[in-house]
Amino acid sequence: MSQKPLNIVILAAGKGTRMKSESPKVMHALAGLPMINWLLKTAEQLSPEKIIVVTGPDMPDLEAAVKPHATVIQPERNGTGGAVKAALSELQGFDGDVLILLGDTPLVKLETLVSLIQAKGNGGLSVLGCVMDNPHGYGRLIAEKNVLQKIVEDKDASAKEKEVTLVNTGAFCVDGARLAGWVEAIGSNNAQGEYYLTDLPEIAAKDKAQTFTSLTTDEDEVRGCNKQADLAALEKTLQQRLRITVMESGVRLQDPTTVYFHHDTKIGQGTTIEPNVFFGPGVEIADHVTIKAFCHFEATKIDSGATVGPFARLRPGTHIEQDVRIGNFVEIKKSRIGKGSKVNHLAYVGDTDMGEDTNFSAGAITVNYDGFQKHQTTIGKGVMIGSNVNLVAPVQIDDGAFVAAGSTITEDVPADSLSVERTKAEIRTGWAAAYRKLKSGKKKTA
Ligand code: UD1
Ligand code: CA
Repeated sequence: MSQKPLNIVILAAGKGTRMKSESPKVMHALAGLPMINWLLKTAEQLSPEKIIVVTGPDMPDLEAAVKPHATVIQPERNGTGGAVKAALSELQGFDGDVLILLGDTPLVKLETLVSLIQAKGNGGLSVLGCVMDNPHGYGRLIAEKNVLQKIVEDKDASAKEKEVTLVNTGAFCVDGARLAGWVEAIGSNNAQGEYYLTDLPEIAAKDKAQTFTSLTTDEDEVRGCNKQADLAALEKTLQQRLRITVMESGVRLQDPTTVYFHHDTKIGQGTTIEPNVFFGPGVEIADHVTIKAFCHFEATKIDSGATVGPFARLRPGTHIEQDVRIGNFVEIKKSRIGKGSKVNHLAYVGDTDMGEDTNFSAGAITVNYDGFQKHQTTIGKGVMIGSNVNLVAPVQIDDGAFVAAGSTITEDVPADSLSVERTKAEIRTGWAAAYRKLKSGKKKTA
């Protein structure tokens, strides 16, 4: 990629005050993965010698999340220039290219970064710009005759400069041999009293180095994250990318924009997903599965040929085997549903091992919790669990058994037998007619 050796510095020390959240800004997740890790995935593909992440003091989660990459601590949050300064100790003697990226701009594409590095070439530095419909909040690239003169921060910009729609995305590529000298020259005489990395073009110009500008036309890939609304916009961009990847692998999404993926979702070819489906972490779906509308999945495995939904909730530890049918308003947790079995309507199955070709009828549930502990239910092959059955765990229903509708089962059921646990029917002939006669004429008017 880069002709020269490459080091990458990622600035991530900011607290992200504008997010109004406890955790460091770059630890906020997109499709369940912290934004810093999305950026690292792209950065790693450039095969740099080293990636250095600048963190703030007391950010142990961030340090853990970026491992095995190096971290340096910026002791005081005094600006993006201060952050790069903190990384200089890790760059001593390095005279290749240094790519500087903002941790809160996680969706920048690989090819865009390659162009930025190429734009620098043998020169001193390059900056990645983008024309934005709404440039508010971003630094502006002030150019004359197509040559960048300086970058002006939004807070320091004049009314005329604010009209400029070409913004600084925050990504720079700098000559490693000159970086330290230029960074040391950054001052803090500006609206925020901070050391701005964006002073580099002017400092470089004094050193007779021109700043090259590389442009991207896709403002979604370079959107920064400063507030919760930005996080939502980034999530939208990322989800769209994930949907396209899924469709490219041969999955049918009937209404893609209503399906939400987790970064680790795996879906096999020939699977169809109807509208309004949510994937939490750890979901793996095989080939030729049908997911009907309005389902919610977490840590679940679904084997080929199964049909799930509409309106099914599959919670962590669920394994749906081949050709199983899970229908509407069914919740399953920490259970295996054996090949060809059916749990078609209004059921709860928890902490259960269910064999093959079993039918678990409408309204039946496993009673897996006694108020203190969870208990296991074991159901064999070819079993028929009738409607509105309560299986009070721990309990075992052996192969081929029948459980009568409405039963509350508290004892194990042997193979091929019938278990009925309900009161006997009592018929009082003529009772209803006699009751009506007794009550006739006494109807209360409301
Ligand atoms: C920055 C740029 C602005 C650009 C915008 C693009 C500067 C001075 N401004 O503004 O020109 O248009 O990004 O999104 O560079 N950080 C540190 N240490 C600090 C301050 C920040 O590591 O002391 C990190 C933050 O964690 C963040 C990144 O640098 O990941 C950007 O900081 P932020 O404060 O969000 O800069 P912006 O105001 O968005
Ligand atoms: Ca920002």
